Amino acid sequence: MTANTIRRIGVFTSGGDSPGMNAAIRAAVRTATKNGLGVMGIRFGYQGMIDDDFVEMYHESVSNILQRGGTILKSARSDDFRTEAGRKKAVENLRKHKIDAVVAIGGDGTFRGATVLHDEFGYPVVGVPGTIDNDLFGTDETIGYDTALNTAMEAIDKIRDTADAHDRLFLIEVMGREAGFIALETGIASGAELILLPEAVKKIEYIRNTLNDVFKVQRRSSIVIVAEGDETGGALTLADKLRDDFGKYDMRVSILGHLQRGGSPTSHDRVLASRLGSAAVQALLDGHRSVMVGVINYKTTLTPMHKTWSKKKSIDFELLEMAKVIR
Ligand code: F6P
Repeated sequence: MTANTIRRIGVFTSGGDSPGMNAAIRAAVRTATKNGLGVMGIRFGYQGMIDDDFVEMYHESVSNILQRGGTILKSARSDDFRTEAGRKKAVENLRKHKIDAVVAIGGDGTFRGATVLHDEFGYPVVGVPGTIDNDLFGTDETIGYDTALNTAMEAIDKIRDTADAHDRLFLIEVMGREAGFIALETGIASGAELILLPEAVKKIEYIRNTLNDVFKVQRRSSIVIVAEGDETGGALTLADKLRDDFGKYDMRVSILGHLQRGGSPTSHDRVLASRLGSAAVQALLDGHRSVMVGVINYKTTLTPMHKTWSKKKSIDFELLEMAKVIR
């Protein structure tokens, strides 16, 4: 298939939703229609591909969605797509709807699927990184990460008021799956006394000693940010391990959970999503067949699809060290 043969594209969102996915859909649909391409929306990601849940989209289909969280195309994690029969059905449906290429908006699971779609069936795919976790190789930031950081930071600021009023110790768990990006940046933004991440495993003695130091200097409120994927097993498990020593500080646990995934995207995420949604369609028009669009050092980039999930993106360890100095 050559670049010229793409007449109609499919667009879908898959995996965990993230704020800004709608802005990415809008940009992809409008860039495609402006270039004379037809667009089919595929609802519920790979599952919708299998279940034949397709909807024709036009310029107007994406009006007034830029500012909305979630995804108008819905999302799902599909077990059926893991089977050969499921994948065959998905491709049959793509062909039935005369879709020549797809724009996949999502995280690492989405891009593993997209890699298979290309490698097994030769289907042209371009990925747009949409996940609050920011854990994709090939882009400095993913769509939704900035909004999630701000949402978590605001929640932690509120918890800080209570922590301060009662001189309490709070263990606050944030999302991020196996990655500590959200924990690191919300920890710094909210002045946390300790940040625990899967990328920088800390022994329980270290955690006890650090907290003892903090309380020794001045008895005051303390906030520990725990990434959900941290070795400690999360905030509740950590609380059990600390209760004997720190119970006297009226310790409380707060798990921020899915509130981090919702809400209206920040201006930063809206711009990022618009830029990447549009760049994805442009990449297809330019003849790219299995890549993810990203932004590195403020420039739009392309990364081979399989590298986005097989290579690990590192957190900024200097930032983590700095957080220790200024706590
Ligand atoms: O990948 C986004 C994410 O919110 C992770 O941070 C979290 O571990 C996971 O999804 C939760 O998934 P679910 O909504 O399926 O419980």
